[in-house]
Amino acid sequence: MRFDAEKKDSKNVMEMFSKISPRYDFLNHLFSLNFDKLWRKKAAGNFTPQDGEIYLDLCTGTGDFAIEFKKKKKGEVICLDFSFDMLKVAKKKRDDLFLIRGDALLLPFKDESLDGAMVGFGIRNFEDLKKGLLEVNRILKKKSKFVILEFPKKVEGISGFFFNFYFKRIMPLVGRVFSKDEFAYRYLPLSTEYFKNEEELRTLFDECNFEILSFKKRTSQIVFEAVLIKR
Ligand SMILES: C[S@@+](CC[C@H](N)C(=O)[O-])C[C@H]1O[C@@H](n2cnc3c(N)ncnc32)[C@H](O)[C@@H]1O
Repeated sequence: MRFDAEKKDSKNVMEMFSKISPRYDFLNHLFSLNFDKLWRKKAAGNFTPQDGEIYLDLCTGTGDFAIEFKKKKKGEVICLDFSFDMLKVAKKKRDDLFLIRGDALLLPFKDESLDGAMVGFGIRNFEDLKKGLLEVNRILKKKSKFVILEFPKKVEGISGFFFNFYFKRIMPLVGRVFSKDEFAYRYLPLSTEYFKNEEELRTLFDECNFEILSFKKRTSQIVFEAVLIKR
């Protein structure tokens, strides 16, 4: 499948993830050398959920961020994604996940109804990032956390040189062999190219009524973790 990665048309993004869903976890762990597990674990460590609280894992995909969150044994987490096939993989992995098929840009929750939210490697794919951030802000209670894990627009320095080579040359090749979809793994670097840089993201978070509690780079800057608080 090929489409205009700059526009990130929701229907195309959904179809692409559905197509790679059977191999998503395998390739995710392979490409990140299992670092993705550590990134989600650290990111989930930002929450101290209490009994009775409800959290949202946006763009849950195969559910790994929510599964990490559930290790805290307190609070409930709702997993939302628009790809039915990704959710099917999540369901097979853990039967006790509360899954909803839905669009992150149009969340099926009341204003100020949830106690926190998280998203792993999802916002980069949003057709309209501002709309998505405003939507999360709308459904969160005041002072609650929104934790974002994502690839940055650009990895600087020497690690950036190696990372770009890996991201743009090695991954599409291996992705083609295992997922039968080279484009999906060429889309990954393209989607970061058309993503906002740190400064633009900070401005956007502020415009969407979030305070930035922390903005950390992980593993030679190849991912960032932003912890936001709804004002
Ligand atoms: C790269 S995967 C990330 C999955 C998971 N969060 C993780 O940490 O591995 C991105 C997921 O976001 C979903 N997605 C992208 N845009 C979305 C939207 N607007 N609404 C709901 N899901 C979306 C895709 O279907 C896909 O499952």
